[in-house]
Amino acid sequence: MHGIEQVGVIGSGQMGGGIAQVAAANGFETVVYDLDSAALGRCKSLHEKLLSRAVEKGRMTEDQSKDARARLTYSDRISELHGADIVIEAVVERASVKKEIFKGLAGSVSDRTILASNTSSISITDLATSVSDKADRFIGMHFFNPVPVMKLVEVINGLATSKETTERVIALSAAMGKTAVPANDRAGFVSNRILMPMINEAFYTWMEGVAEPEHIDEIMKLGMAHPMGPLRLADFIGLDTCVHIMEVMAEGLNNPRYRACPLLKQLVVAGRLGDKTKHGVFKYD
Ligand code: CAA
Ligand code: NAD
Repeated sequence: MHGIEQVGVIGSGQMGGGIAQVAAANGFETVVYDLDSAALGRCKSLHEKLLSRAVEKGRMTEDQSKDARARLTYSDRISELHGADIVIEAVVERASVKKEIFKGLAGSVSDRTILASNTSSISITDLATSVSDKADRFIGMHFFNPVPVMKLVEVINGLATSKETTERVIALSAAMGKTAVPANDRAGFVSNRILMPMINEAFYTWMEGVAEPEHIDEIMKLGMAHPMGPLRLADFIGLDTCVHIMEVMAEGLNNPRYRACPLLKQLVVAGRLGDKTKHGVFKYD
């Protein structure tokens, strides 16, 4: 149904790495491309650790884990993705960077290759303009962090996305153990339209001295049964990514209520990006 054997992933950060791991664990030949070879090295080590842990936890046999590792290839050359049946992009949340990548890639992949973006918020119709004659095969395939754990893929059609592309992506999501749920192409889609204002409000609540960050998180965890408080979750997502998403929504929905809180922006300016820099709202070992 999906007709996919080889998955190409662009970006080996927390999302690209997670998508690649899940694809390989579910039987797909998987190539991960990143321009930063140090990031590729970190991604490979994390895959080894998590695929070993899956055996310890009884989620995979030793052979399944070994086979998954054998299906993974890491490369700093984008040409390694030319044979992929689907390319899933997961680089920084900036339309210009994403468009540049797709523009460079579109002419070299096959006529059936699906071009998918894991964007959190950016218009799929806009991103698809970078591959104009292939816009029917362009789609939003939005995974959630951490990808090996979270069950959802938010599927977003652009104006020109074909029915066949949507059906193939829904079938692929199921083959990767995920549930695909559709959302329309509006900035932030459904997930971040609702999640990010809550996270942003937590920063305002902290900035205005309503409570200490630990207490804001404790209140939301114990009172609302959230697995992580909103400030911990912001660190986990990446404060830079949160700011980018808010900016896309403020502009795309044309409403200043989506502007990022000044304190959130200030932490990003200071280089406190969350887990990835070991310091955001909180400090990490
Ligand atoms: N990668 C892979 N697996 C991970 C992981 C990671 N980064 N982090 C945790 N896990 C796994 C652990 O290995 C563990 O599994 P096993 O012990 O069975 O091996 C399991 O998840 C539970 O982890 P922990 O026991 O360490 O901790 P926990 O029970 O607190 O769960 C959590 C961790 C799953 C991350 C949980 O806190 C949670 O669900 N947090 C909320 C996550 C969330 O809201 N994600 C969505 C973010 S928004 C988004 O993704 C969209 C966007 O565009 C920004
Ligand atoms: P990240 O910073 O962890 O990783 C991004 C990776 O992309 C890095 O390894 C970087 O070297 C690489 N990269 C940057 N520019 C590149 C280029 N031009 N060519 C090749 N590789 C390049 O980011 P992330 O958190 O994995 O987010 C990636 C995407 O996924 C963003 O669009 C983000 O909005 C989206 N997303 C993030 C989350 C989250 O919780 N962090 C959840 C869902 C979706």
